Amino acid sequence: MSPSSGPMRGIRRLIRENLLGLEGYQPIVPLEALSEEAQVPIEGVIKLDGNENPYGCSPRVQRALANYPFYHIYPDPDQREVRRALEGYVGVEASHIVAGAGSDELIDLVLRLFLELGDKVINCVPTFGMYSFSTEVCGGKVVSVPRNKSYAVDIAGVKEAMDEKTKVIFIASPNNPTGNTTSERDIMALVETGVVVVVDEAYYEFSGATVAPLVPKYENLIVLRSFSKWAGLAALRIGYGIIPTLIAEQLLKIKQPYNVTAAAQIAVQESLADIEYLKRTVKAIVSERERLFGRLKELRFLKPFPSQANFVFCAVVDGDALRIHQELRKMGIFVRYFDTPLLRNSLRISVGKPEHMDALIKTLQRIGGKGG
Ligand SMILES: Cc1ncc(COP(=O)(O)O)c(C=O)c1O
Repeated sequence: MSPSSGPMRGIRRLIRENLLGLEGYQPIVPLEALSEEAQVPIEGVIKLDGNENPYGCSPRVQRALANYPFYHIYPDPDQREVRRALEGYVGVEASHIVAGAGSDELIDLVLRLFLELGDKVINCVPTFGMYSFSTEVCGGKVVSVPRNKSYAVDIAGVKEAMDEKTKVIFIASPNNPTGNTTSERDIMALVETGVVVVVDEAYYEFSGATVAPLVPKYENLIVLRSFSKWAGLAALRIGYGIIPTLIAEQLLKIKQPYNVTAAAQIAVQESLADIEYLKRTVKAIVSERERLFGRLKELRFLKPFPSQANFVFCAVVDGDALRIHQELRKMGIFVRYFDTPLLRNSLRISVGKPEHMDALIKTLQRIGGKGG
């Protein structure tokens, strides 16, 4: 039987219409593929495109995972130990905490909880791509409100864009890819509107700025955090939300029962037990970020933006960002390239170890700006 006849015929018509035309999320290229492309061994790849932690996770995590004897048993669906451990770290009660397979999963869960088909989500662009992607997968409508020239959220613009269909506003603070934070005052101005305000603090440990202590006082303020960046656990997929209790209960109800693996749950506990080690690596990254910013500023063809995260966003003001991106690739140095209406001719560089940054700067000096 050919695929165009019999039971396979017309299967497209059964697929949800809003998903058929959807463009997929463009995730980053895996390490192995980068190594093959640049013809350098995996250890030699300078991967500065995913805002990952170049120091890796705590050695305690490696040891605990190697010795864990219960991989054949399902993990705790109520995430009890993880939530209790996070209670101490965050300083809010466990009833406010829900863990997910990365903060990505929590973005999706929040939207699944609130959106009916056609409901609106406000996205302060340019920003992290998962907000619009997950909104569309959930059948919501993305309302984009551009940030201003220095990438601050346009609070008045957000308020103007709201109507009775608006359910959720996303604010990444620090924002990806621009690296700037949004002030507590601005966030509170949005919380006062009564719609759900999701403050994504995936890079909190690098900025130190948080609105998490305010969550228990409001019914519509959600803070999302990640272990991917500061704790070096990106591959284990673990993030969490600090969430008003009523919403937290609903999220715990609708999530997949075993959404956080045993490995991820152990990794959180061991990371928090080795917090001094992680704080040292965060400190090293923050200090390297400042050094990188200074070095990039010296290159006249680049305009770096001050960052509160573990990356630096740069406009290429004299030359072609794509050419620079490609020249870096040839040397096994991978950064993120943007050329969209809101992010013209620009690069985002994750902060690596000092030797990575030295190799990057040396190559940028050689490539130069225009022509090159
Ligand atoms: C602003 C922001 N939020 C969330 C995430 C996703 O983090 P996770 O790995 O916890 O899903 C990222 C990852 O790049 C991010 O930049």
